[in-house]
Amino acid sequence: ELGYFTYDPGYGTTASCKSDITFIDGTEGILRYRGYPIEQLAERSSFLEVSYLLLYGDLPSSTELAAFERDITYHTMVHEQVNTFIGGFHYDAHPMAILSGVIASMAGFYQANLDVNDPAHRELAAKRMIAKMPTVSAAAYRHYMGWPSAYPRNSLNYAERFLHMMFSVPAEAYEVNPVAARALDLLFILHADHEQNASTSTVRLVGSTGANPYACVAAGIAALWGPAHGGANEAVLNMLNEIGDVSRVGEYVKKAKDKNDPFRLMGFGHRVYKNFDPRARIIRKACHDVLADLGQTDPLLDLAMELEKIALEDDYFVERKLYPNVDFYSGIIYKALGIPTSMFTPMFAIGRTVGWVAQWLEQAATPHRIGRPRQIYTGHSARDYVGIDERG
Ligand code: SDX
Repeated sequence: ELGYFTYDPGYGTTASCKSDITFIDGTEGILRYRGYPIEQLAERSSFLEVSYLLLYGDLPSSTELAAFERDITYHTMVHEQVNTFIGGFHYDAHPMAILSGVIASMAGFYQANLDVNDPAHRELAAKRMIAKMPTVSAAAYRHYMGWPSAYPRNSLNYAERFLHMMFSVPAEAYEVNPVAARALDLLFILHADHEQNASTSTVRLVGSTGANPYACVAAGIAALWGPAHGGANEAVLNMLNEIGDVSRVGEYVKKAKDKNDPFRLMGFGHRVYKNFDPRARIIRKACHDVLADLGQTDPLLDLAMELEKIALEDDYFVERKLYPNVDFYSGIIYKALGIPTSMFTPMFAIGRTVGWVAQWLEQAATPHRIGRPRQIYTGHSARDYVGIDERG
């Protein structure tokens, strides 16, 4: 065994682990959670039901789902000093900086005696992070806005509760729009897990050392922040705003093809999908439905559709099998719900938390070795030390 990379899955790369959780076929554009096609889960399930599926391997009975929802709801509050901690950040700190710092700090607030070898301790930590990620994310936004903390309203469902924590203000009543909540629940489902992507592999690698689960997920949040990964959804909206008009799409497609230009078409391409990302297809349709249901139009959607059309007719993208990925359209919906671009990647983190903790639990529950990726050494061959007086 080579240590961390110990499996050859037979498709020209090395696999870092075996997993029962999520299956991707990048050639066919297939994504399944525990064998269930993402299209069916998107159409018929809820985020907490999908969370149960990812954590425990099967769809829950109504009794099991009700108990799981109660468990998650019970842990939505954070220790009041977590809110104090958030208050210590500079007002315009990026919410991903707050999220990674605060989640890591939870190792100091919860389960001080956490034993990663105890299944009950592990399950409690997992449920806590699923429950608290929306609370911390919304608190980061409110810190920027200068608003007082909004406490979770446990009579609401997962997505409704997040919207209420994000947008309610003491001065007036706030009614959650059910269309917005359903759209958000769908986006959380679509972002829940994705096999061994960069942030999940990070969570597993940190977890392989026996580190505290809050530290593992904080490392995953840091990895997700990058524009090549979860930060792409924020970068897509910035790109669409920079393009500004359909007449300028060709200019940016040309830039994306220019090897001397670092610009890439954000929301396009994927390490595994060499076909349409099935999540992008679902989100593109949801964009139209949500905007129509909210009675909104958004020229950026037309711009995104034109950009997709031109790119998919261009040899450069066709030859490289570059298609829209999950990040290409998601921002259009977040924007329609009033969520600012700086909060787009935290939205990704809220959905992906269940994937991170499910994969961490899977690894922690099975005998495993510490992760230890190897390298190809390309440096100097052996040479002797030369004293500074002889170096000239
Ligand atoms: C996510 O791994 C996951 O599962 C991630 C994720 C998840 O759910 O966890 O799916 C979420 O991170 C989706 C990806 C979000 N990132 C972006 O949208 C950023 C823009 N995309 C790229 O930076 C890029 O496509 C990556 C990072 C996603 C993949 O990078 P690779 O592995 O270098 O892409 P590749 O090997 O497929 O590239 C092949 C060619 C290269 O050109 P050549 O050297 O062959 O000439 O395509 C080019 C690349 O330069 N290319 C692009 C491009 N993406 C790849 N050219 C222009 N624009 C792009 N977006």
